Amino acid sequence: MRRDGTPFAILIGMQVPNVTPLVTLSEGLRFHPAPLVTLRPDMDANFELYLGIGTPVGRRYVLYKSRDYDLTEDRRQFLIKRGVTALYVSEEDLHAYFGYVDRAVGTVLASEHTPPREKSQILYQTTASLVSCLFERPDSPVLLRSNQKMVSHMVKFLASDTRLLRATVAMFCCDYSLYHHAVNVATISTGVALQMGYKPGPELEQLGQGFLFHDIGKCQLPTEMLKKPGALTASEMAEMQRHPQYGTRQMRGREKIEAPTLEVILHHHEKLSGHGYPDKLGANEITVPARICAVADIFDALTSHRSYKAGLTGFEALKLMQAEMTSELDSECLLAMISLLGPSKR
Ligand SMILES: [Fe+2]
Ligand SMILES: [Fe+2]
Repeated sequence: MRRDGTPFAILIGMQVPNVTPLVTLSEGLRFHPAPLVTLRPDMDANFELYLGIGTPVGRRYVLYKSRDYDLTEDRRQFLIKRGVTALYVSEEDLHAYFGYVDRAVGTVLASEHTPPREKSQILYQTTASLVSCLFERPDSPVLLRSNQKMVSHMVKFLASDTRLLRATVAMFCCDYSLYHHAVNVATISTGVALQMGYKPGPELEQLGQGFLFHDIGKCQLPTEMLKKPGALTASEMAEMQRHPQYGTRQMRGREKIEAPTLEVILHHHEKLSGHGYPDKLGANEITVPARICAVADIFDALTSHRSYKAGLTGFEALKLMQAEMTSELDSECLLAMISLLGPSKR
């Protein structure tokens, strides 16, 4: 880390009132994005926040707020108006940031004054941010705990009103990424499970973790394979189809990870026809939570935009699934998803 006295405003070409006068250009440290939506001006943020600046030699990080300063709403709005969507937290402050995020999300979701749309947005973006971090470092106990807390928030939030699912899905990020896919599938699957009669509580939270971490085994696959635009070769496909086992192995024995979570991770690609993987289970061997995850997984895959294909609309995806996939997907799960995400009756 190098410190110098260059005025902050000169470095980033902005006139920023009342910012921390000290500038820290950080090199060699790892930074994690802290989306602005997760930063609440009404809560003490006892950690440093950095501004990420693109330079010809890569991104540099400039201290924006020290531990002693508050992030005021004025400053937050200032950044938003200039197109900044996230500040950054250094590795050493991650623990403090995650604790803060958990409190912040809990406070926002409990607030009677925050509109449901804003609640959905904060929960969605925060979970996406935390799960992206976990996928980078799947062995981290701190990151696992932070994600488990988000699952708990998600279950309670969606259980409070089934209409919240539609509102949350409407603001999904449709550009495919592994971590957005994880949150999308977790959100839809949790909503479907609630619709099918699961109650909020430890069991659904275990399942919620399975939904969120269902593809965590893909972190062990080569990036080129995950991003390959064309069809996979036979050997690549065989490797890709091992991700349920990789994920199960990755998560087994971890804190608060129990059998229901592992079952979803292992069997979310099984099909009622018996042609799924990895175990080619028959229709009566696939558990309901794995069936739920399968319908949400396919729905999100169909509606996501990829570099090589445009995503379907939600309506088109549901229509296709109902017309062509009934031999593979559980009809009760599919109907529950249609009742939640299909054409609105109002
Ligand atoms: Fe998968
Ligand atoms: Fe998936």
